[in-house]
Amino acid sequence: MTRGRVRFELLLEQVLAALPAPPGRLVDAGGGTGQLAVALARRGYQVTVVDTSAAMLATCVQRAAGEGAEVGARLATVQGDAVDLPDLLGKESQQAAVCHDLLTRVDDPAALLGALAGVLAAGGVLSLGFANRDWLALRAGRRGEHAAALRLVEGTVVAPEGPVGSGGPVVSGGPVVSGGPVVSGGPVGSGGPVGSGGPVGPRRSGGPGGALSAPPVNQGPMTLAEAEAELERAGFEAVAASGVGVFADSGDDDLDPAALAALLDLERLVAGREPYRSSAQTLHLVARRRVLRPNLTGYTP
Ligand SMILES: C[S@@+](CC[C@H](N)C(=O)[O-])C[C@H]1O[C@@H](n2cnc3c(N)ncnc32)[C@H](O)[C@@H]1O
Repeated sequence: MTRGRVRFELLLEQVLAALPAPPGRLVDAGGGTGQLAVALARRGYQVTVVDTSAAMLATCVQRAAGEGAEVGARLATVQGDAVDLPDLLGKESQQAAVCHDLLTRVDDPAALLGALAGVLAAGGVLSLGFANRDWLALRAGRRGEHAAALRLVEGTVVAPEGPVGSGGPVVSGGPVVSGGPVVSGGPVGSGGPVGSGGPVGPRRSGGPGGALSAPPVNQGPMTLAEAEAELERAGFEAVAASGVGVFADSGDDDLDPAALAALLDLERLVAGREPYRSSAQTLHLVARRRVLRPNLTGYTP
């Protein structure tokens, strides 16, 4: 998924509104070239980017280096599979995690969310962005690709944009490098109340505590309701849901200032509002790792 500058700025605003104030230790799972990670390091967060691709991480380090030594020192990279996050970075070692455009590309989304829960401290915040299947269905239908739209609506397709997946075989452990980076952003509220989006479709894969236990397969893009259900099963409580790219698209990067301001206002206004949110190109869920209290009767770790 290519993300234009306008959509990135909107997403960054939502992420910053969701995160605890800097400084804080956070991981960017599948952080790629570091567009988001570097922006966060610039704002004072201590960021570790975990990615399977050495090439992506090299670009990330370069991007960070371009920001100078102070920002560079706040960004580290680890080559590895995000499913191994607790082993790579330490259980409960992070105050926050960001994971954008990875969930719908991995073979086992439940395992990824489980790993994100494992690396977060109790109460830690997760910012989760992913491709919206409802948007893809609408796009396919508007293009006249009705059979594809039908499969997307029914949830029986593995994604036009594909389980592109993993930049290669899983590597674990791996070197830590640093550097420094880019981008700005601004304030903005993130979404409205969570819990809309309709019933959960046939995708249920059953995570820890789930009643169903279908084999983990890459199921492609998700709807809002599906992702919320997966988060719940992984031990998260969803606290906000927003859409990014309801109206904005990559071609909007060159708008004149007045048109751009109107577009930004519009996107901010509808980000948490239905039916707009559920038809956004990207969905952004903010969740908290549930706090488990071992002194409660019936608690089993
Ligand atoms: C589409 S890019 C998203 C990059 C960035 N998060 C963003 O939103 O722009 C997906 C990234 O995830 C990485 N990736 C794929 N599978 C992974 C896995 N299992 N663990 C960690 N990284 C993975 C890829 O190498 C790639 O850099």
